[in-house]
Amino acid sequence: MQDVFKPARIQGVTLKNKIVALPVFTGYALPDARVGPLMLEHYRNLAKSGASVVTIPNVAIAENGRTSERCLLLDEDKHIQQVKRLIEVIRENNAVACVQLNHAGRYAVTNKPLLPSALDVVEATKSISALKNFMESFPFVKRFGLTAHVAKMTAGWTNQMTEDDIYDTINAFGDAAVRAVKAGADMIELHGASGYLITQFLSARTNRRRPPWGGLADDRMLFPLKVIDHIKTRLPENIPIGFRLLLDEIAVNGISTSESIKFAQKLEQKGVAYLSATIGTYQSIFKPEIAKQLTRPGYLTELTKELKRHVNIPVVISGRVVSPKLAEKILKNKEADFIGLGRPLLADINWIKKAKDGGQIIGCKSCNTCFQSVVLGESVVCERWPEVLRDRIHLETRFTSRHGYRTLVVLSSRADLEVTRQHMLHRIPIHTDIQDRLLFIKTGEDKSFFEAAKKFITWAEKYNKTHLRRDKTERFFIDNVQNPVDLVMEHLEDNFGIVAIVHDETSEWKKNLVLKAPPDIVVSRSGTHPNLNKVLIPCDLSPFTLMQIRAALHAFHGRSDVDFSFVHVTDSTGTAIERWQKIIKNFEMDPSTSLKVIKPGKELNVAETLLGEVRKGDYGSLILGRRGGLARVRRRIFGSVSERLLDQLPERSFALVG
Ligand SMILES: Cc1cc2nc3c(=O)[nH]c(=O)nc-3n(C[C@H](O)[C@H](O)[C@H](O)COP(=O)(O)O)c2cc1C
Ligand code: SF4
Repeated sequence: MQDVFKPARIQGVTLKNKIVALPVFTGYALPDARVGPLMLEHYRNLAKSGASVVTIPNVAIAENGRTSERCLLLDEDKHIQQVKRLIEVIRENNAVACVQLNHAGRYAVTNKPLLPSALDVVEATKSISALKNFMESFPFVKRFGLTAHVAKMTAGWTNQMTEDDIYDTINAFGDAAVRAVKAGADMIELHGASGYLITQFLSARTNRRRPPWGGLADDRMLFPLKVIDHIKTRLPENIPIGFRLLLDEIAVNGISTSESIKFAQKLEQKGVAYLSATIGTYQSIFKPEIAKQLTRPGYLTELTKELKRHVNIPVVISGRVVSPKLAEKILKNKEADFIGLGRPLLADINWIKKAKDGGQIIGCKSCNTCFQSVVLGESVVCERWPEVLRDRIHLETRFTSRHGYRTLVVLSSRADLEVTRQHMLHRIPIHTDIQDRLLFIKTGEDKSFFEAAKKFITWAEKYNKTHLRRDKTERFFIDNVQNPVDLVMEHLEDNFGIVAIVHDETSEWKKNLVLKAPPDIVVSRSGTHPNLNKVLIPCDLSPFTLMQIRAALHAFHGRSDVDFSFVHVTDSTGTAIERWQKIIKNFEMDPSTSLKVIKPGKELNVAETLLGEVRKGDYGSLILGRRGGLARVRRRIFGSVSERLLDQLPERSFALVG
């Protein structure tokens, strides 16, 4: 048997082989630190890849320690459930789940970053010139937003952590570690690399404090060592604590290899279970001469071999272990105890299977597109993935950025409750990532509406629990509402992407709400037509159609009894079919899914043609486009197709996708 496939141990934890899926931050979390389907699928695939350990990267221990708005968080108990969902898919697929905890320090997305010491002028100049290299590695068009981001970030680097900040952060590491274990983690890893807070304490470039927390190398090690001590007092003994170690900062006055090795020995003395080696930070790895060195396969082997000469705990290597042959060689030469795969596994999720059974590995090109997407706050995609997959992930990011998983359900009458009940039975999405808020408002005299609403909640919760496996929904009861539209707008500001109402022809405010809701909010209007699951999606085949179909799939997720029909009303059929084929591929729909292309009748406009189509097919639901920008101007001149349909088909259910 090849050495990589032999079982091994990290403290008390048995690993089925010596291949570790390294922490690679994806930005797939939903904006409110929840786990969506994309993230679940990613970690399921990593666990199925055959890696013995799957590391969930960069989980922030504090809100002001997130590297991105797409980070998972463990600063409060309410987040445990989210991390637990990922851990479950990892463990179900026979891999060990490791949670990497991080505080980003000065690189955090916050107005008040924590820094070991404020930046002085000399260091500021160096940092900005290093970041210039970093920015120059990005495509020209992307640099503008990034420049503004970097300028804003560095302007906040003025705040030296107080003694209280330091102890609060140490405690926060401990609290987060306890939560990770409650979520089911088999191992914990501390992120001591990439230039984040722990590195910032270790490096003389960024830590200019006096002792005890700054000064000579030994003093600068105090913060991470205290974090380890503290976590050890909080966790059961059987949970190994690993450390992501920056072996060399590759910067003047930065952490040197000899300093790092000395630090590694202290980590070993403290009982750290393994060291996962890396090199460089954002300020160094993008410098052209360094970037070039880091394209060499196995670029860390000399340094990890040196590290292994000084410690006895297992060392995980990273850095372009591009082939199984190289992995074997590293183990044979005792350059590392475990093989860490980051980008190679991103580029080819079947890397490990191919190492075992043979097959051509799709190699990582070292192009760093993945790195760049993360830095730009986008979701990770790899150049080696098919275009259709990359497009799907970009679309998912756009959908989730608009809080597509959060619905504000507005209910204002007994009739609303009954229609909503029917809709729940038919079409409320089955997935568990949804977060709804029920807003019950009394605009008139119906004194017993809130009583009926409470009964509805009891029913809905029971239904949700048995059929939808959802968490409790938030609910608000507001009496005597004078201006319902303003109230709904206020609630929408709590990051809702969808507002759901029930149609009522007598209600002016509901009509106004449909027209006034911001263009990026999906408006869902439930009607009473019985054919709810017969859905018509008129598409204009612009890139926007993707969002429309994404919203439709979201609304009817998991239901096999939905009949979708797609129609395109146009004068020219020229490129329609070609564009449609691309859309089908994008959503992995059955290749035979057809698009009906209709030329508007002689006297008819688009709205009337569609009205005819809805009536002919007796569709109960429609998913319509509702765009701002130019479309708004056009709407004023020609009238809006959506508005015409909404008016003419009161009993149908609609989703208006902006
Ligand atoms: C997109 C991307 C995200 C990363 N995120 C993390 C992270 O969250 N934590 C971490 O310790 N390392 C992170 N890394 C570094 C990798 O774990 C790894 O050390 C590095 O990519 C070199 O190894 P590789 O050649 O196998 O990818 C990231 C790397 C990439 C490319
Ligand atoms: S995007 Fe480029 S660097 Fe990143 S994993 Fe894919 S091929 Fe490798």
